[in-house]
Amino acid sequence: MRGALCLLLLQLALPAVARAANCRDPGADCSLREAADQVGVGIGAAAQPGFIAGDPNYGPVLAREFNSLTAENHMKWAAVQPALGVYDFTAADALVDFAELNGMAVRGHNLIWDQALVDSTPAYVSSITDPNELRSLLAEHIQTVVGRYKGRVDAWDVVNEPLVLGGTELYENIFFQLLGPGYIAEALELAHAADPNATLFINEVLVSLQGARFDAFLALAADLLSQGAPLHGVGIQGHYFGPPDPVQLEANIRALEELGLVVEITELDILLSGNDDPNQKLERQRTGYFNVVSACMAVTGCRRVTTWGFSDRYTWIDGFVGPQFDPLPFDEDYGRKPAYFGVREALLTRSIPVLPPGVLGLAAILFVLLGLHRLAPAPGRYISAKSVRPLSGSLGSHGRTGPVASERSTGEGSVAQNNVGPQICSNHTRASWVAATAELPLN
Ligand code: G3I
Repeated sequence: MRGALCLLLLQLALPAVARAANCRDPGADCSLREAADQVGVGIGAAAQPGFIAGDPNYGPVLAREFNSLTAENHMKWAAVQPALGVYDFTAADALVDFAELNGMAVRGHNLIWDQALVDSTPAYVSSITDPNELRSLLAEHIQTVVGRYKGRVDAWDVVNEPLVLGGTELYENIFFQLLGPGYIAEALELAHAADPNATLFINEVLVSLQGARFDAFLALAADLLSQGAPLHGVGIQGHYFGPPDPVQLEANIRALEELGLVVEITELDILLSGNDDPNQKLERQRTGYFNVVSACMAVTGCRRVTTWGFSDRYTWIDGFVGPQFDPLPFDEDYGRKPAYFGVREALLTRSIPVLPPGVLGLAAILFVLLGLHRLAPAPGRYISAKSVRPLSGSLGSHGRTGPVASERSTGEGSVAQNNVGPQICSNHTRASWVAATAELPLN
């Protein structure tokens, strides 16, 4: 009986799976999503629900090309709790619903982002002076936000940009000032309690090159692990003002992986650079995308690349740097740029063998017949957090590095505060931020 059922299913399934092209075949024209799915990695984009609702072309391209999305702004503290005790999940829910409808994973971004120039901490938080009050508000915020999306958001940027911009010390934000450097471990514990299966990250800018800053980031991750904090992943943001050095980037990814952590490129965009022919700029951008994605693909622990937006129609770079830098893989009309093909080609460098479609179909049928599908992770979760969870006993060789932070840095510029929306800086501070965070100088 079981054999007959198997044969029937095989006959039904084979024509369907036979249609799925091997993206490595010459002439195959797979989407980024198809390519990423075939090699078992994540390809994501930062997204905004307003564009899904208001632009008929945006959602279909997002769902066709990406198997993951990040809330670009709408899970940030100021977005979900704009006033003390007043939560608004309308926009974040819309994004998560869209992702689920389209079988996509969701990165949660972020729980704490309190920086000098641009961040998402409302004034009602940064004006607190009592450590107990801040600690209980932090606990309540994280429990509410992570708890709401338990099992639906696979990864959280628990602390975004913990280091001082461009420096090597922890940034002494309100959390540091009142709770001490242990605020990062506290936040990780809170997030872990709210969703024990979520992969928890610290996410940092300007850590693609080797040197003191990357060493500080590595030491911070090692220190958190040695304390037993539930840190599972590290994000390299990847905002580049030109093609980054792939050798240094890959070395940094490997060093983080060696701690037992998952690594992701979380906010990739590469500005057009140079003063030459427009086609050469586009080619240079393609090379940059290829280099970054292939550096990730070369390291087993690097599991997902997320671009910060996907179409030049909507990019934060327009407002912060200028409209002429077109940093994303799709143009303003959703046409595929050379950068798109750089990403796709790089995804397919992943050294996981692509099984022939017939074998895949057979494996799927056996999977169902044996009842193994009941053990499978939730849709869109292509890597189980548990499979990458570092074991505390295995970290001894890295040793305790001691706290990274000690002094408050100066000269960071002023912060424009308001008590409801995300904070945005003046043109002057915006330029400072750009100068401070560019992964590479503009050519
Ligand atoms: O939507 C409102 C609009 O209604 C209002 O009229 C306008 C007035 O300023 O503001 C609009 O909101 C802006 C929003 O972007 C729109 O996309 C916010 O002010 C502005 O602060 C916000 O900027 C975001 C920035 O983070 C600050 O939260 C960018 O979109 C977003 O791309 C950027 O993302 C960050 C990551 O979270 C962390 N790493 C760096 C990255 C780039 O700065």
